[in-house]
Amino acid sequence: MCGIVGYAGKDNAKNIVINGLKRLEYRGYDSAGVAFIDSGKLKVYKKSGRIRNLEFELNRDLSLPQVAIGHTRWATHGEPNDINAHPHTDCTGKIAVVHNGIIENFTKLKKELELKGHTFKSKTDTEVIAHLIEEEIKTGKDLFKAVLSAARKLKGSFAVAVIYEKEPDKIVCLRKDSPLVIGVGEGENFLASDVPAFLSYTNRVIFLDDNECAIITADKVNVFDLNGNIVTKEIKQIPWSIAQAEKGGYKHFMIKEIYEQPKAVADTISGKLSMFAGQKAALLKAFNKIQIVACGTSYHAGLVGKFFIESLAAIPVSVDYASEYRYRNPIIDKNTLIVAISQSGETADTLAAVRLAKERGAKVVAICNVIGSTITREADYTIYTHAGPEISVASTKAFTTQLAALFLFAVEAARIREKISPSEEERLLKALSEIPSKMKAFLDKESKNKTVHNIALEFYNSQDALYLGRFVNYPIALEGALKLKEISYIHAEGYPAGEMKHGPIALIDEKMPVVVITPKDRVYEKMVSNIEEAKARKGKVIAVTNPNCTEVKKLADYTIEIAETEELLYPFLTVVPLQLFAYHIADFLGYDVDQPRNLAKSVTVE
Ligand code: F6R
Repeated sequence: MCGIVGYAGKDNAKNIVINGLKRLEYRGYDSAGVAFIDSGKLKVYKKSGRIRNLEFELNRDLSLPQVAIGHTRWATHGEPNDINAHPHTDCTGKIAVVHNGIIENFTKLKKELELKGHTFKSKTDTEVIAHLIEEEIKTGKDLFKAVLSAARKLKGSFAVAVIYEKEPDKIVCLRKDSPLVIGVGEGENFLASDVPAFLSYTNRVIFLDDNECAIITADKVNVFDLNGNIVTKEIKQIPWSIAQAEKGGYKHFMIKEIYEQPKAVADTISGKLSMFAGQKAALLKAFNKIQIVACGTSYHAGLVGKFFIESLAAIPVSVDYASEYRYRNPIIDKNTLIVAISQSGETADTLAAVRLAKERGAKVVAICNVIGSTITREADYTIYTHAGPEISVASTKAFTTQLAALFLFAVEAARIREKISPSEEERLLKALSEIPSKMKAFLDKESKNKTVHNIALEFYNSQDALYLGRFVNYPIALEGALKLKEISYIHAEGYPAGEMKHGPIALIDEKMPVVVITPKDRVYEKMVSNIEEAKARKGKVIAVTNPNCTEVKKLADYTIEIAETEELLYPFLTVVPLQLFAYHIADFLGYDVDQPRNLAKSVTVE
């Protein structure tokens, strides 16, 4: 997610802004930039890649500006490169803008501005803001009034900071649906998307609310509404340490990312309109089999996706570990659609599977979280998940957003192939749209009553664990087991519950936690029998179930209740307690949850 930093004071503004950007690195980014005014001239430095690339260039510039703005970019419009990096400037090169969020009406605004003679340098939505402000300044307005007028033309969510060569002592900023916070110092003031950017200088902050604008100079912070009326704001004292604040107050990125899932899934669902534009509809009609390729957690999402696609669109789906797919002889023809799922878009095995499939004539759809990553560049089409940067190695929000993308894909394929009625489609999409609030309700309740936390406290000394599920929750058993083993180093197995009697039942004794995933669905009675079998061997049963599942509640040693939903959608809700269970166990054991041993976030080697 992008980060904004601004400084007005007496010190070297470019160093302070660079340090602030480094503090926001945890948000993830693909490029960075800084703008400042030196001896009456606006200067802009921006570079794709790490902040140190930018710093290297900046260090060669010996100016000592006292006002600067900076930005780390997580690409949304336009690939990550130097040109698309912020700050963006107007035609005169006197106005520089940094921006977080999305300008929804940018295409229309851009056309209008081009008709007026403006030339655009980048592919970003942000650049329209600089040109809009330029237009307003042309009419004789000062920077502040120009920003207000421009803001009234923007639709979408944005946090914006602007500097202007002719008013070199100030930053003008504004906020709508994207965070912006002002740090109040002595003879210096700060601006950022998140407090850690300036927490080492001041902990006195003003949180801007939506539709508020501010003028920041070294000595003053004035906040206004969008009509230019002054707003009196309270200065708050932040009690956070820098380390905590970087994770938004959470102890680890993993727990933060677990709690971000309602928003991440909602964002992915709301991004659906752009998913199937144009030729994709024809493509969805033409193929007659789908092969999903992925690794790790993304593979588990693929297994759930098989249920979605086969149940709704009646297309046969195979799901392969990408590392296996490439070494067998997959039967691929022009009517085969490959769906490659990858959070990072850089996983070497998945990429190799994509290349193999393309060589053999298949079309490839990528489901990916990272804009411009290699897999998206090589795929024919990409469906982006909108999880935001996932920093913890153990994948959580990427998984549930992949499920959202797969479900939308399945519904779309079913509609195009006339396998579902409009009313059924409406019912399914409505059920999906209710998932984020159901996830949130669960997480809010967990924050208060700590059910999963307390169960984890009982089991963190276990040597092994068994996870069982059937139907669409069988992949969730695999994912629950993967989460536990990768961060807590406890041996865990996930199984389809029906397979238990063919071997794994031999493992169960009074020391074995058996996690059963059993909402009220078509296999509920079968799962109840499996729980009986586990109890008969004295296993300790932890059930993830619905409040009305009385049989399960009677039998299980511990129950975790999740909301009811369409049976295909249960994985969204059942996986969350399993993520939390693994997280708390690893945390109780004192492990570095975000950086488990031997694992990397992006596996770019075979
Ligand atoms: C597990 C985990 C990994 C990844 C796998 C694929 O928590 O994060 O198993 O899911 O390495 O990575 P992507 O999705 O980036 O291809």
